[in-house]
Amino acid sequence: MELIQRPRRLRGSETLRKMVRETRMDKSSLIYPLFVKEGTGIEEEIPSMEGQYRYSVDRLPYELERLAKAGVSSVMLFGIPDHKDEVGSGAYAQDGIVQQALREARKQFPDMYYITDVCMCEYTSHGHCGVLCGHDVDNDATLDLLAKTALSHVEAGADMVAPSDMMDGRVRAIRECLDIHGHKNIPIMSYAVKYASAFYGPFRDAAGSAPSFGDRKSYQMDFHNRREGMKEALTDIEEGADIIMVKPAMSYLDIISEVTKATNVPVAAYSVSGEYAMVKAAAKMGWIDEDRIICEMAVGTYRAGAQIYITYFAKELARFMDEGRIG
Ligand code: PBG
Repeated sequence: MELIQRPRRLRGSETLRKMVRETRMDKSSLIYPLFVKEGTGIEEEIPSMEGQYRYSVDRLPYELERLAKAGVSSVMLFGIPDHKDEVGSGAYAQDGIVQQALREARKQFPDMYYITDVCMCEYTSHGHCGVLCGHDVDNDATLDLLAKTALSHVEAGADMVAPSDMMDGRVRAIRECLDIHGHKNIPIMSYAVKYASAFYGPFRDAAGSAPSFGDRKSYQMDFHNRREGMKEALTDIEEGADIIMVKPAMSYLDIISEVTKATNVPVAAYSVSGEYAMVKAAAKMGWIDEDRIICEMAVGTYRAGAQIYITYFAKELARFMDEGRIG
């Protein structure tokens, strides 16, 4: 057989395969989501997310230490407050749970990079991502509260804020508010292309943030739509977003790829709770090889174009990168 093209030639050894790799990753691109809860001495496992925990502020440093040791240098904080109300006032309270966590964590681990999720759903009694007008989420009335929340996070020590509510105009509202208060250099990572997804199921259980009625389809995106995702990404960039996020990751690789082509900002992908839970459950049954699946999911996301990967598997991935299994 006289074959000119023999693609297998470049697959002959581990050294060669690594040399010709098209996707390269680094631990510095990993972000680990962390749940913080009121109280003391709490480190409770989240039933639907085995291996993930809710921490009280005093326990948070132990996890930050494990992350730092693993080489994961960025976290995204989510708050679980004790009290909720109609307008989600815990989200922007000076002594709110995320604000407390930031002050304490910053003291103990000043070099960690702190990103905060900015949203109302964990703080509202009805579980929606904004204030209500009847049964509808009132977009414009929510903007002010989101801006206040972002500002209070920054004042408590956040390095970056990440609005996840999907209200129109929130990036602009947050940017203006931060600028007026002298925080011109705090970046905004917008959950710009966020779909109404069943993959968030375990998170809502973890954060107690499931809506008490209806769903989030009037603000999060319909997963049939691709072009609308570009509209969201471009709109948020115009409003001042520095980084654009696509969420979830695994079933949205086409969207990640397209957003990287349609924009010139860094693109982040969030591998969400449902993706994590599925891997954990199948691995527990002995049906998949957990480590290899984690690697494949991560590499697929970077290969699609993501530069930043938000994942509950951050520590494992950091180790796999150290071991040279991926990267
Ligand atoms: C808050 C928020 C959610 C997630 C991140 N920020 C839940 C939602 O929108 O319902 C999901 C994260 C995950 O599933 O891991 N709005």
